[in-house]
Amino acid sequence: MNRQEKELYNLVKANVKLIQIVSYETLRFHGMLIGVSRELKRDFFIWNRVEGIKKWNAAERFFVAVEDEDDSSNPSFAIDFYKNQKECIFLLEDFYPDLTENPRMIKTFRNIAGENTQNKTLVFSQPFLQLPKELEKDVHILELPYPDFDDLKAIYNKVCEPHNISNSGEPDHELIEAALGLTIMEAEKAFSLAYIENGQLTGAEVPLIIREKENVIKKSGYLEYYHPKETMEDVGGLDNLKEWLRKRGRGFDKSAKEFGLTYPKGILLLGIPGTGKSLTAKAVGNLWHFPLLRLDMGKIFGGIVGESENNIRQALKIAEAISPSILWIDEIEKGMSGISSSGSTDGGTTARVLGTFLTWMQEKTKPVFVVATANNISQLPPELLRKGRVDEIFFVDLPTEKEREEILKIHLKRKGRHPKDFDIKSLAEKSKGFSGAELEEVVKEALFQAYDEEKEIENSHISTAIEKTYPLSHTMHETIVKMRQWAKSRAVSASKDEPEKLEDKGKDVPKLRQESYNNPFI
Ligand SMILES: Nc1ncnc2c1ncn2[C@@H]1O[C@H](COP(=O)(O)OP(=O)(O)OP(=O)(O)O)[C@@H](O)[C@H]1O
Ligand SMILES: [Mg+2]
Repeated sequence: MNRQEKELYNLVKANVKLIQIVSYETLRFHGMLIGVSRELKRDFFIWNRVEGIKKWNAAERFFVAVEDEDDSSNPSFAIDFYKNQKECIFLLEDFYPDLTENPRMIKTFRNIAGENTQNKTLVFSQPFLQLPKELEKDVHILELPYPDFDDLKAIYNKVCEPHNISNSGEPDHELIEAALGLTIMEAEKAFSLAYIENGQLTGAEVPLIIREKENVIKKSGYLEYYHPKETMEDVGGLDNLKEWLRKRGRGFDKSAKEFGLTYPKGILLLGIPGTGKSLTAKAVGNLWHFPLLRLDMGKIFGGIVGESENNIRQALKIAEAISPSILWIDEIEKGMSGISSSGSTDGGTTARVLGTFLTWMQEKTKPVFVVATANNISQLPPELLRKGRVDEIFFVDLPTEKEREEILKIHLKRKGRHPKDFDIKSLAEKSKGFSGAELEEVVKEALFQAYDEEKEIENSHISTAIEKTYPLSHTMHETIVKMRQWAKSRAVSASKDEPEKLEDKGKDVPKLRQESYNNPFI
């Protein structure tokens, strides 16, 4: 018996009357319930709207339809049938349409919860968590997590059997690990497809399993399995942040736990647009060699009530299943902008999604490290900024002169040029107020210019490109000053250097309408 089966067994044995199983994996919980009913020597029935009531025949190992004159697909009939049983486990599949907003059925369930019966359990299953408020105290909710390593090993063995694959030895550890985050059916399909494609199931098939997993995760719409090419070498400056990440990364070492360390929870990167927040998030994946999942908060918010909360729970479950992992929530404020109107326009959905996320942040025990980025501070819910939610809040400012040198060198090298062929120092001096993204653009622009002139790129090309660029910091001067003030008491500087004072050039600069989009105080 695995952990979930044991939990279910204990609940049924303890005479818990109503259990809700939250899972997509029908066959998995059928198997669990069959196992529990066998252990406890109880009859096991299943009802669903299409097939009516079926009884598990333990000797023959199949379900037999329960014949009756009445319409057994009628939910009321199913409940009456359950009431007439002496000892059983009765599973109602996808029952929520008959339960939600149906006061009679809710009352019936409440009565069942209060009945003085022994050895009878009513289980109802559905793919997502949704329970009428009135039943919250009467129902035990069992959310099935994604299969763990041992579950997947069992699936691997099942797939191996018909193919006569010798599995006398242990399966490849990485192969099984690669399937974490897949449901049982998905893992079975992934192993089978990999076998069909390569005629074997070894460590060499890891990329095939990962590819299948990427597809499955992408289908969710709000999560993406990300393969970052970027490393910390690609990030110029931000030495405080880099040092913090290096040090805290050691919290995932095997010996760290014994030493008394806990897993790092996560960080929030706030700051000016184009300063390397997203870039750093990607680079953390490579620094720690953990899979990186990108969560799109905007897409979490589905159209149907309850769906958004289900989406976030599902996303967090996947991140936990593939842990140790990094959950990158880019531009977290975009998803949270409804928070100010929560309770009115969006019916509190945003607040509930945030609540689910924050509770998870607080209680999570699995090594999932969250990297959340934001540049619109005014839209961030204060709950997110409260101490203890994340390990640290970093403010990412415009690069200092020394940092601009590093960034220019990185982008020149990336284009196959030698930084020593350029007067990096003077270019860095000249580009005061430029963000990393603008420096990257400057290098690109200079390359275009040189190519057009049919020359090799020279210092003058970059210098001219700098002159021609009007950096965002000029138009956003006021905003940046306010942002720095805001960050002083609330965040740690990502950079080791003091930020440079900016000259106010923005007074007579006409602002584009789109600029308000990135303006953290609008
Ligand atoms: N510190 C840096 N070092 C090297 N390159 C940088 C740096 N900052 C920005 N860049 C370049 O600019 C690009 C855009 O930066 P990035 O997407 O990380 O900005 P951001 O801070 O997330 O901005 P936004 O707030 O607009 O999302 C990066 O892909 C990188 O090429
Ligand atoms: Mg970004």
